[in-house]
Amino acid sequence: MEYSNLNLSDDVFKKLKDMIYEISGIFFSDQKKYLLETRLSKRLSLLNLSNFEDYYNYLKYSPLKNAEIKELLNSVTTNETSFFRDMPQLEVFVDVLKQIVQSSGNKAIKNIRIWSAACSTGEEPYTVGILIKENFFSSGIKFEIVGTDISEKVIESAKNGIYNGYTLRNASQTILGKYFEKIGDDEYKIKDEIKNMTVFGNVNLIDGGEVKKFGSFDIVLCRNVIIYFDAESKKKTIENIYESLKAGGYLFLGHSESLHSISSLLKLVGLGKTPLYKKE
Ligand SMILES: C[S@@+](CC[C@H](N)C(=O)[O-])C[C@H]1O[C@@H](n2cnc3c(N)ncnc32)[C@H](O)[C@@H]1O
Repeated sequence: MEYSNLNLSDDVFKKLKDMIYEISGIFFSDQKKYLLETRLSKRLSLLNLSNFEDYYNYLKYSPLKNAEIKELLNSVTTNETSFFRDMPQLEVFVDVLKQIVQSSGNKAIKNIRIWSAACSTGEEPYTVGILIKENFFSSGIKFEIVGTDISEKVIESAKNGIYNGYTLRNASQTILGKYFEKIGDDEYKIKDEIKNMTVFGNVNLIDGGEVKKFGSFDIVLCRNVIIYFDAESKKKTIENIYESLKAGGYLFLGHSESLHSISSLLKLVGLGKTPLYKKE
């Protein structure tokens, strides 16, 4: 069967995109039909199905539907990421962390918790770990980093902690030498001192129950994910993150993302290099 020629009708596209939206909040506009078609063709091929209608019915009624929904999410998510992505924003992150560390000086704060809320293959939480090691080596505070994503596939990859040179293109030779072990021509393994600071798991950001799973945080990074959502899913995500932030905690979005006309729960406290939001 020639799967590259499979055609996704408007009717089945609507049913599939509504299903994906209900589960994940990810919104496929009509202009993105080709993207869904391409991304799901492989699933049809693997399941030996001859059309998208059969695939939709498989997702709805098959006894194996729960496993396939996980595959669906692995297929439809965009997982692009890299180490030290958006450095100017990460500089603000370090400044904010310094403030939290300083303000904890007189109090009994012994640990600071940071959540990378759609962490893809782990580059973001491991970058946070490296920045902490570089800047707060002797602070005496315990840092806990949690990395989560809706896709099981990327979380497995994050737990493995093995990367190629392309995703490490922004890391200096010094950082590479200090925190990675070269295990192949173009393969680098994150060292245990960073890996052991980080816990990974699956969390769907639009599911309030799942979001509570990992407790509350001083800083949440939710970068480059709400761009895939419509206004309603963005609002739900922000309400869930709000509940997970400690009072006085901070939220970083991607540099092109904003809560303008989405939610006023969090106060905008930083512009310039990056939009930064605070729970008062
Ligand atoms: C483009 S990556 C961003 C990775 C990283 N935060 C960064 O900025 O480099 C977006 C990630 O959001 C995840 N995602 C999409 N919808 C989600 C949802 N409802 N809950 C949790 N993660 C989701 C995707 O699986 C994907 O790995």
